[in-house]
Amino acid sequence: MSPVTASSTLQVRVQATTYEAQHILGFELVPLSPATDLPSFTAGAHIDVQLPGGLLRSYSLLNDPKESHRYCIGVNLDAHSRGGSRHMHEQLRTGAMLSISAPRNLFEMDESSPFNVFIAGGIGITPLLSMMARSQALGTPWRLHYAARTRQHAGFLDRLAAYQGQPGAEVQLNFDQEPGGRMLDLNSVIAALPQGAHVYACGPQPLLAAYGQATASLPPARVHREYFAAQEEAATGGSYTVTLARSQRTLQIQPGQTLLDGLIAIGAEPTFSCQQGICGTCEVKVLEGTPDHRDMVLTEAEQAANDRMMVCCSGAKSVRLVLDL
Ligand code: FES
Repeated sequence: MSPVTASSTLQVRVQATTYEAQHILGFELVPLSPATDLPSFTAGAHIDVQLPGGLLRSYSLLNDPKESHRYCIGVNLDAHSRGGSRHMHEQLRTGAMLSISAPRNLFEMDESSPFNVFIAGGIGITPLLSMMARSQALGTPWRLHYAARTRQHAGFLDRLAAYQGQPGAEVQLNFDQEPGGRMLDLNSVIAALPQGAHVYACGPQPLLAAYGQATASLPPARVHREYFAAQEEAATGGSYTVTLARSQRTLQIQPGQTLLDGLIAIGAEPTFSCQQGICGTCEVKVLEGTPDHRDMVLTEAEQAANDRMMVCCSGAKSVRLVLDL
């Protein structure tokens, strides 16, 4: 049997669909043969789901990483859906088959941490659910701050309720649009961090912006976040050339075009998913030139190395890039 790699495509079946909250559905995905295990994953990992029309969408795995018989994901119906979440909500039914990628992790836990604090906004709860399960398995105490507009907008509350009374587990819910509700006070959350705690946040951009400010004085190694929306505009200034080293082709990126647009236009068939610089699917090695990084995947140090880039959103500071494509 050939090894499963991050780029492998897996076939799974939708075993169950659950209503989790207003605009949030849960999907349980299982192997086509019950005798087969799915590739293992680590807490914080995601899969890419192939959808009609060539769309790829990334969803965090929310179940316990020790499970090998299923992947569980949660899908928020995006009011501005370009087809991904709308298809999942309106077309995908129990029993359907899906093609997915093997899990990849861009939001890894530091398992040496003495205490974990999780901060979730809305559907951002999903990767943190797998981290809570992992923390329990490690015996690492943890605390969750989960913010949603109202209880009706908060998914997976039954999973959280199961932690009630368990040693080392603490869940704090924050519904800012309920009577008497207030926005989650991240400065207070961070000020109350236990000694040496690592903190993990996933949620919408305003929450992550506030999180960035509240954690600015903490050692970066203890601060972790995952975005699910772009923070920066894609680079569309154009006026640079791109040479594809493997296929020996050169193209000119025009003003108004992203690098991904240019690659698609010449039929280069790049792999991509979110098109917002947040999933890491479109990463390509840079052999020459200086990228104009616009992604949220690479760390500052990784961006400064200029040896790889996300072609969906990043462009070029140099007049020429040579890519390993
Ligand atoms: S497609 Fe997701 S980072 Fe580029």
